[in-house]
Amino acid sequence: MTKPSVTRAVFPVAGLGTRFLPATKAVPKEIMTLIDRPLVQYAIDEARAAGIEEFIFVTARGKGALEDYFDEAPALAAALRRQSKHELLAGLKRTEMASGAIAYVRQREPLGLGHAVWCARHLIGDEPFAVILPDDVIAAETPCLKQMVKAHAEIGGNLVAAMEVPRAQVSSHGILDAGGVRGDVIRVRGMVEKPLPDAAPSTLAVIGRYILTPEVLGRLGGQAAGAGDEIQLTDAIAAEIGGTGVHGFRFEGRRYDCGSKAGYLQATVAFALARDDMKDEFADFLNSIMEFRVAAE
Ligand code: UTP
Repeated sequence: MTKPSVTRAVFPVAGLGTRFLPATKAVPKEIMTLIDRPLVQYAIDEARAAGIEEFIFVTARGKGALEDYFDEAPALAAALRRQSKHELLAGLKRTEMASGAIAYVRQREPLGLGHAVWCARHLIGDEPFAVILPDDVIAAETPCLKQMVKAHAEIGGNLVAAMEVPRAQVSSHGILDAGGVRGDVIRVRGMVEKPLPDAAPSTLAVIGRYILTPEVLGRLGGQAAGAGDEIQLTDAIAAEIGGTGVHGFRFEGRRYDCGSKAGYLQATVAFALARDDMKDEFADFLNSIMEFRVAAE
């Protein structure tokens, strides 16, 4: 069997998560749950499905719960075994990582996403690598990163996941200046981080899945702060447009911005409605509160 070309993924989780304060004062955003799985588990499952074998977390002070989450929990496992709770035991197994498969590096200060990715440079080496932002949760029949790995095997270079957003929202995203489009793949002529709506070259936004060349890390090393006074990943990728090349990838699936309260609630509703063990009860509940709202109006 041929080895997948992208086997390492970086998970930057060192941000402050201010949009979820005060909860994130004590609980890392990535540990918050959609139903019964923390956001980070969705990211790990997606990465595994895409063939990722090495998982590099960029963490910070206060993120200890994340490291605990991936450890073995022998007392808990023994109790579940005694009680013959096999399904729960299998779920617990999915949280464990083989020794050496997961690594943690620290970002000492939250200087931006680009800086967080740069902090992983010594663990990445000379091959293309993936970056996954766990607060972007993507519901898709074929996991988003798996779709991207397949496209990347054909086009190489740098590949960023992209989706259309309303023009009023472009200033929350990195936006693509799109050249030609072939199927799902967009040739990128330029990228701008958080433009004003009138200045945005398109409404195609970059979201939290990337496959990057090591050259991007070199760029990040010498890079000054950009939009929001943060070291922006977008700027380093944009600098590779004339180098190793940059494409956008229109993935199939639906993305939920679980870094925002509205997106997190939307994901909770959508995922509950997709779960066989919950959907009927939950749909009844949603219908009943909608009826109640209509009646109140
Ligand atoms: P966000 O801006 O969405 O997350 O960064 P945040 O900064 O944690 O949250 P808010 O905006 O204050 O609510 C996108 C991703 O980049 C990581 C975050 O952890 C998140 O996964 N990040 C951001 C870092 O690892 N380091 C940084 O300095 C900034």
